[in-house]
Amino acid sequence: MLQLGDDVTLYSLVFVLVLLGTRSPLWSTVLTVLVYLFLATFRFPQASTARARHVLRPDARAAGSGQVSVVAHRGGGHDAPENTIAAIREASKNGATGVELDLEFTADGIPILMHDEAVDRTTNGSGLLSRMKIFELSKLDAAAKHRLRNKFAGEKIPTLEEAVKECIKLQLIVYFDVKGHPDEAAAAFRDLYKKYPVLYNSSIVCSFEPKVIYRIRQSDPEVVTALTHRPWSLSYFGDGVPRFSSAWKHLWMMLLDIVLDWAHHHVLWRLCGISAFLIQKNFVSQEYVQYWAQRGVAVVAWTTNTNVEKEYYQEVLHINYITDSLVEDCEPHY
Ligand SMILES: *[C@@H]1O[C@H](CO)[C@@H](O)[C@H](O)[C@H]1NC(C)=O
Ligand SMILES: *[C@@H]1O[C@H](CO)[C@@H](O)[C@H](O)[C@H]1NC(C)=O
Repeated sequence: MLQLGDDVTLYSLVFVLVLLGTRSPLWSTVLTVLVYLFLATFRFPQASTARARHVLRPDARAAGSGQVSVVAHRGGGHDAPENTIAAIREASKNGATGVELDLEFTADGIPILMHDEAVDRTTNGSGLLSRMKIFELSKLDAAAKHRLRNKFAGEKIPTLEEAVKECIKLQLIVYFDVKGHPDEAAAAFRDLYKKYPVLYNSSIVCSFEPKVIYRIRQSDPEVVTALTHRPWSLSYFGDGVPRFSSAWKHLWMMLLDIVLDWAHHHVLWRLCGISAFLIQKNFVSQEYVQYWAQRGVAVVAWTTNTNVEKEYYQEVLHINYITDSLVEDCEPHY
């Protein structure tokens, strides 16, 4: 019913916009039908509800109720050096349901865990990942810049496979965050899911980029996926500072932000057949959770870093959340 509602809105909008542009009812009809055919032909169905539930609410069965999942952001970057094996172990020890890990690639094409495109912020090395080979990276200290660097000294940058093996061993759910490289990522996941089929029931691939998710599902439609979104992300940084100093550029980007937000909520989610929507926490309300629930999509909030907030997302909204720390209140890591 509601999906029909979505469709009616979408096609009416296309029809009206084309009619305004061309003043031709014929063209409007033809283009609207083309959009319909495009979506009907190219969209991926959602992964099965049972599998999505396995991934998104693994604790619900054990607890017998709607227990939400607590996911450690970058493995829990406040409690241990982000995107490391130490972080994964720490998250497990502190009771996380899962970990969110960032996928990147070395110059020689090895999938590894790293959030940034350069190693400078987190390690004692310097330079772009795309210029460094795995043997150079393996010498770096991934704890070098962390507040607990003494406790975790000598921690290495893990490969994707090393990290996944640890998560499987500790029975953690994995939220893979993929920023780009759609083809390389699709190939890496194809190998990974083949070698470790348990991942179908215990991991979800997430991205800000719809084309990454689309590519992943093209390569393997069985994988559970999510889109990640922060409204106004094209015009503002995560901390609220405008990205562009030119007023025109800023306004133009805000306009694009409005279009992108609309597309996420009305078209892209269906095209990709996502099972969850990862959204910046400030944009979540009960109505918002309801909106997605009616579409069979679970909302996950990020990044929820204080106890008061955590209780709200857990007890009032009943949704999964991603946090930088399992043990104490902390500042967000952007
Ligand atoms: C980084 O730290 C590791 C471990 O302490 C050390 O072996 C390596 O030489 C250091 N690398 C640089 C570039 O300082
Ligand atoms: C995933 O879970 C389903 C349902 O519980 C089960 O039938 C299936 O064998 C599991 N698949 C893997 C690869 O573990």
